[in-house]
Amino acid sequence: MTSGSKQELPDIKNLPVHLGVIMDGNGRWAKKRGLPRLAGHRAGMKSVKQIVNSCGEIGIRYLTLYAFSVENWLRPKAEVTGLMRILREYLLKEIDELDGKGVKIVASGRIDDLEKTALKILKDCIKRTQHNKGLVLNLALSYGGRAELADAVKSLSKDIKSGYLNPDKIDESLISKHLYHPEIPDPDLIIRTSGEHRLSNFLIWQSAYSEFYFTEVLWPDFGKEDLMRSLNEYQGRERRFGRI
Ligand code: FPP
Repeated sequence: MTSGSKQELPDIKNLPVHLGVIMDGNGRWAKKRGLPRLAGHRAGMKSVKQIVNSCGEIGIRYLTLYAFSVENWLRPKAEVTGLMRILREYLLKEIDELDGKGVKIVASGRIDDLEKTALKILKDCIKRTQHNKGLVLNLALSYGGRAELADAVKSLSKDIKSGYLNPDKIDESLISKHLYHPEIPDPDLIIRTSGEHRLSNFLIWQSAYSEFYFTEVLWPDFGKEDLMRSLNEYQGRERRFGRI
C-alpha cells in the first residue's frame, strides 16, 4: 500500500540529477500475501514501469535501479532463473514505449555473467536507445560496488602495464573515470524501500555525498506518490559537501 497524503509536485529546478534506487522488499510483499517470492519480483516490475515513467515525466536525467546484485547470484537457482526471465520480459514488453519516450538504456555491472538471452536482449535495447536524449535508465545488473572498484583497479593496472599511465597520476577523478559509467554524475539521492537502512554494495564510491531516503514501503507498493514524497524531502535538505 502506498502511504500518506497526496504529494505536491517537487520544484523542478531543484531535482536530483541522478537518482539511485535500491528496490527492496519484493520477497516480503509476496510472503505477506502467501505468494511465491517471484510473484513479488513480478509485482516489482510494475513499480519499475511507474517510477521510470514518473522520472521521465518530471525531468530526472539519470535513474539507476539496483535490479540484480553480484550477491544475488547466491539465491536459489529457481529465483535467479525467474529474475532473469522477468528482466527479459520487462525489456521485451517495454522497449517500444521506452524508446518512444526517448529513454536511453545503459547497464552497470558484470553483465557478461547474465543469462545468455537476457544479455542479448539487454544489449539490443542498449544499442537501439543509444542516441536517445531523454531519461538515462541505468540498470545495475550483476552489480556490486566493490566489484566495480576491483574492475576499475584492473583497468588502471592495464594502463600502467602498457606504459600509458604513470601511477603517480592516479587521483580520485581518474578512479571515477574508470568506473562503469563515468559520464553519469554521482547520485544526488538514493532511495531504499522496505525499511532497511543499508547501502548493500550499491554505488559505494559514487555515494560519498549522496542524500539518503529510507521508507518502510515495500518496493511493489512504491508508486508515484512515494517518489514525490522522497523528492520533496530531498528538496528540503541542505547539502554542504563537507563545507559549512
Ligand atoms: C530485492 O527484494 C529485489 C531484488 C533482488 C530484485 C529487484 C528486481 C525487480 C524489482 C524486478 C524487476 C526489475 C527490472 C529492472 C525489470 P528482495 O527479494 O530482497 O525482498 P525481501 O528482502 O523482502 O526478501
